[in-house]
Amino acid sequence: MENQKFHCMVKLIGKNKIQCAVFISGRGTNFKSIYNFSKTKLSKINIQIVISNKHGVDGIKFAKKKKIKTKIFNFKNIVLTENRIIKLLEKNNIKYIFLAGFMKILRKRFIKKFKNPILNIHPSLLPKYKGLNTHVRVIQNKEKFSGCTVHFVNERLDSGQIIMKKKVKVLKKDTPKSLAMKILKEENKLYPKAISKIISKI
Ligand code: GAR
Repeated sequence: MENQKFHCMVKLIGKNKIQCAVFISGRGTNFKSIYNFSKTKLSKINIQIVISNKHGVDGIKFAKKKKIKTKIFNFKNIVLTENRIIKLLEKNNIKYIFLAGFMKILRKRFIKKFKNPILNIHPSLLPKYKGLNTHVRVIQNKEKFSGCTVHFVNERLDSGQIIMKKKVKVLKKDTPKSLAMKILKEENKLYPKAISKIISKI
């Protein structure tokens, strides 16, 4: 009985929070860190749904374990898919989208139609190294520093207003893989901080 009461309370608290969606394509470490943050006392957000373009990925398995709604879209017909996603987001009263390793590009029309903020995390110090294969390019160019950036999504790739960045030293011995892992650790800390920053302004 007590247990049941506790679950009702948790549900109620979740309902009073700001409903958010996370979009992923794979492993989902950034999603997990956002989820863990959402469960802290200070957090005003609730992860209501996780959307992915891939079945069976670790991030989706984690969401299912935590009893978060999940939905997979194959993006074969991008127009139809985006319309369906918008409907789903509206139905779930979603106020923020957090892109967390989501490897599909959302079209202008989607961004305009959703109207609420969309955030993304990118594994470089934007505006440097937009797009793919950032770590390979950073090492090829013998950069001394790289890092990660959380930014608002606008109609141009990795170009929206920057919310927060974290610098990471590139060592001579770093490979694209070791650099990616070092940066990922920082991403996992940065994303919740950036979310707190924007939500505290509401
Ligand atoms: C992260 O490094 C993220 O910055 C990157 O994909 C990885 C996802 O890891 N995103 C992009 O490159 C987007 N352009 P995760 O699934 O463990 O969060």
